[in-house]
Amino acid sequence: MKLKVNSARRFLDEIPAPLAVVGVWGGELSEEGQKLDQKYQGALSRVMEALRFKGDLGESALVSLNSSAEPRFALLFGLGKRRGVSLETVRQAGAKLVQEVARLGFREAVSETFLAERLGKKEASYALAEGALLGGYSWGRYKTTERRAERLRLWLARSSGPAVDRAEVVAEAVNYARDLVNEPPNRLTPAELARRAEALAAELGLGVEVWDEKKIREAGMEAFYAVAQGSANPPRFIQLTYKPEGPARRVLALVGKGLTFDTGGYSLKPAADQITMKSDMAGAAAVLGAMRAVARLRPGVEVRAYVAAAENMISGQAYRVSDVLGSLAGKTIEVMNTDAEGRLTLADAIAYADRQGAEAIVELSTLTGACVVALGERIAGLFTNDPRFGREVQEAAERAGEKVWPLPLEEEYLELLRSETADLKNTHGRSRAAGAITAALFLAQFTEKPLVHLDIAGPAYSEKPHALGPAGGTGFGVRTLVELLEAAGGSEA
Ligand code: BES
Ligand code: MN
Ligand code: ZN
Repeated sequence: MKLKVNSARRFLDEIPAPLAVVGVWGGELSEEGQKLDQKYQGALSRVMEALRFKGDLGESALVSLNSSAEPRFALLFGLGKRRGVSLETVRQAGAKLVQEVARLGFREAVSETFLAERLGKKEASYALAEGALLGGYSWGRYKTTERRAERLRLWLARSSGPAVDRAEVVAEAVNYARDLVNEPPNRLTPAELARRAEALAAELGLGVEVWDEKKIREAGMEAFYAVAQGSANPPRFIQLTYKPEGPARRVLALVGKGLTFDTGGYSLKPAADQITMKSDMAGAAAVLGAMRAVARLRPGVEVRAYVAAAENMISGQAYRVSDVLGSLAGKTIEVMNTDAEGRLTLADAIAYADRQGAEAIVELSTLTGACVVALGERIAGLFTNDPRFGREVQEAAERAGEKVWPLPLEEEYLELLRSETADLKNTHGRSRAAGAITAALFLAQFTEKPLVHLDIAGPAYSEKPHALGPAGGTGFGVRTLVELLEAAGGSEA
């Protein structure tokens, strides 16, 4: 759907729209709802009684106001129980709300800014607008029939304008990342991903540099290059830079895993495991999405984004098990499993980010199935060599409403990656024990700067519709990165 969310200072019933949405919380009509109810001779409370409407989160009921002036209809919208209500409740309500309003066929509606008194006007406005804009996302690029591009304008009564504007920027960036993840791998090749990054840089005034396969090899990124060499689609190394107008408070690097498809290579993935592997560039998508938002929000921090984009395929050129690879950092790596390709590409990207002078690095990758076993499909694993920086990222995720949880970067397990032949092995061999930890440990060998590794293999992609959007790419990580960078730099706007 094409959704526009507008902030209004006026009260709910002062905005001329055919539908007015009011909250029902703890089984009771909101204050705004009670005012509307009185104005329309108890039309709302009569429906609540007749339906025994309790207002579970997302539950709704349409009420005709029998009026010839707007609003002609009201929508009772459930916000659940009084206890445990949070900004996440409001965010999810926003998503559900736009889906319901669109389903009912309205093109314009006004909603009260739910729970603004309780949670703060700015915060509630932001969460409601963000939820609406995320919930209104759909992906239909390659459907030639059933194109549903309904338009919907949603007014948020008595909301904070700047908060709604910021939500628009952040949600647009999340939806941009979702689009990248949802693109099929025959179309979104490494070269195409690089073109998208160039277009983004040109549009928003970011610095950009893209290296082709020759430059990647010449630069000494042997591990990254090895992963890419089995594909007819050549790799690209993508760099984007954002510089604030004034002096930068810090210089932070973002690194995103950019496997446009992961077959596993000769350590081939079973058919079922390949089904979601177009999403193996979700880390890159999150990083590009964050750069999009940063370019528009302009925090006072320098941000450098790096993506080693490649496709993990099979051919006579492909790398194999037992190959020994060099790397940008100089360490040699024995390949035990060609399906542990992400860490090889990331090793060179992290080493490069470090050499270029970043003070700290946040890296996001759909790195291990083991992390999904540990934390499931909704929570990312957080690993760090620097507890302070780890907390900074974790707190940013909490504020953003994205779920991350710390896992240990246990040095004692490093011996599992010791090789007889080279400096390191890329996996621990046949054992699957602590797979997310050994992957993180591998990455941590390529920088001594503060590093946070977010394993987003679970939350990056959803095979079913979820609270904030449809099945497919979720854009996970964008919101956390934006929070982190804004807090690190302060907002200039
Ligand atoms: N891209 C996968 C990880 C993945 C799995 C992401 C499931 C999303 C959902 C990664 O490249 C991979 O294949 N990892 C292997 C590592 C193993 C060979 C040590 C895995 O998790 O099985
Ligand atoms: Mn793999
Ligand atoms: Zn992968």
